[in-house]
Amino acid sequence: MTQTNSKRTILVTTALPYANGPIHIGHLVEYIQADIWVRFQRLIGNDCTFLCADDTHGTPILIRARNEKRSPEAVITDMFQLHTHTFKNYLVSFDHYSSTNSQTNQHLCEEFYINMRDKNHTEVKQIEQTYCNHDQMFLPDRFVKGTCPVCKSENQYGDSCDVCGSTYSPTELKNPKCSLCGTPPVLKKSDHVFFKLNDFKTLLTEWVPQHTSNEISKKLNEWLKDDLRSWDISRDEPYFGFKIPGYDNKYFYVWVDAPIGYISTAKEFWASDPDKFARIWKQDQSEVYHFIGKDIVYFHCLFWPAMLTAAGYRKPTQVNVHGFLTVNGEKMSKSKGTFIEADHFYKFVDPTFLRYYYACKSSAGLDDIDLNLEDFVQRVNSDLVGKYVNLGSRSAQLLHKYTSGKMSEVISEEGLNLLLDVVKASHELQKHYEAREYAKAIQLIRSHVDHINQYFDQKSPWKTLKENPNSADALESLAVALNAFRIFTIYLSPIIPTVSDKVAALFNETAYQWPMVPAHVDAPWLKSSYFYKGALTLNPFQHLIQRLDIKNVTQVLQP
Ligand code: 2FM
Ligand code: ZN
Repeated sequence: MTQTNSKRTILVTTALPYANGPIHIGHLVEYIQADIWVRFQRLIGNDCTFLCADDTHGTPILIRARNEKRSPEAVITDMFQLHTHTFKNYLVSFDHYSSTNSQTNQHLCEEFYINMRDKNHTEVKQIEQTYCNHDQMFLPDRFVKGTCPVCKSENQYGDSCDVCGSTYSPTELKNPKCSLCGTPPVLKKSDHVFFKLNDFKTLLTEWVPQHTSNEISKKLNEWLKDDLRSWDISRDEPYFGFKIPGYDNKYFYVWVDAPIGYISTAKEFWASDPDKFARIWKQDQSEVYHFIGKDIVYFHCLFWPAMLTAAGYRKPTQVNVHGFLTVNGEKMSKSKGTFIEADHFYKFVDPTFLRYYYACKSSAGLDDIDLNLEDFVQRVNSDLVGKYVNLGSRSAQLLHKYTSGKMSEVISEEGLNLLLDVVKASHELQKHYEAREYAKAIQLIRSHVDHINQYFDQKSPWKTLKENPNSADALESLAVALNAFRIFTIYLSPIIPTVSDKVAALFNETAYQWPMVPAHVDAPWLKSSYFYKGALTLNPFQHLIQRLDIKNVTQVLQP
């Protein structure tokens, strides 16, 4: 078990959620996928830090605050409480959760901008945008509504039509209205600061294929074929955000300070260890992974590496991109009740089940994940509870009944070989976890659980022990089942951490380590190793998890 030499230093981030709404079950796909990866890295002994923050700036938060007659700061303070509470409920193990509205972030934004400006990567251009004279503000595309110029559907947003899917600019919209007050907007000119993305075209063309998946890199290459348009990084007053140095009334666009939040959160977390912060974000002596959804690839794989280069920071090791969540096969929709808030879902379903189900459906690709409620109930009840949990609870309860929890000290060759098979799977499983192929990991674990269940059923210790409470063979089968169950638990622990904590308590353990299998193993090695728990007395059995009832689960669809 000599892992320390090759211990990796890893930083993982998830997309910073907007502070203008609660976390929903679609968001959770990413947070759970990333959390599983982080927990796995920690389990195999790597130094893995998991950071996130609320994304707090922009017009929507300003408007929300106005509507609620309070300050944007008050809005984001409440949302921070709500978000952190939700993440805790879903066992997302952030080491630090911050906010983009911090002084550290403001200073870093200024540092980034000054670097970009002084290295001549910015330019100022006058542009014309929709403006509401009544609200006295420029209107972001989403705040203009009107008739789609293509299909003529009414009440469509200024950037795209929900009915026909066309995209356009708000000036093309027919009969445009300010969505706040209904006044037709006017066009107004103002100066904007642009980041000259094309200065980084050569760098990005080289960087993208090495740090994104083939699927993503192919998509980005389409954009990289042409010149890259300069990116508008400023917004006019009124805006909730950070002022741009040198201007009285211009603010950084929220998408500038949001990714910089990845760095400011790290800076806060390592405030007492600035060298470590520098090793991670400046010197490239560690691995940095961003987990994001496929809708924000452009920001993370083009703008962000370019900004980092301009400001003299390292670029991420890899940007891991996932697909969206569908519910019962369809896009989440408020009217169908499938746009489910995480806290609402939590009232009816143990988060362990959602974590398990998302893992069952997760691969490293961009495919959407479907949460089919019937399949969900069936899958968790039959696999997780019916096969895995039952194996442990039946054997632990029998052991308590017949030996007060004392495990057989003898395990025959047959039993040891079975356990050895289970332990040997750790190599392949490790690869699946590392590659974020959780569906494959679960499939492999499931096949081993099935195998041990077959052995257990064939031994039927509950029958033998009834007739002969001292049957060595039956007691041995309980020890085999419990040992296997324990290893399955370690394998599943990144996915179902609370269950794994209860199992660890059963075996009188505190923290788990990933099973390390030497290249050549044989049964005697196993017997003397960390894995075989002969002579142990199990602690009292605590109930692990309750089966799901479809009646409860369908209630998640009701508001
Ligand atoms: O898409 C979103 O929800 C953004 N709030 C994500 C920001 S990720 C990062 F850049 F901060
Ligand atoms: Zn208006």
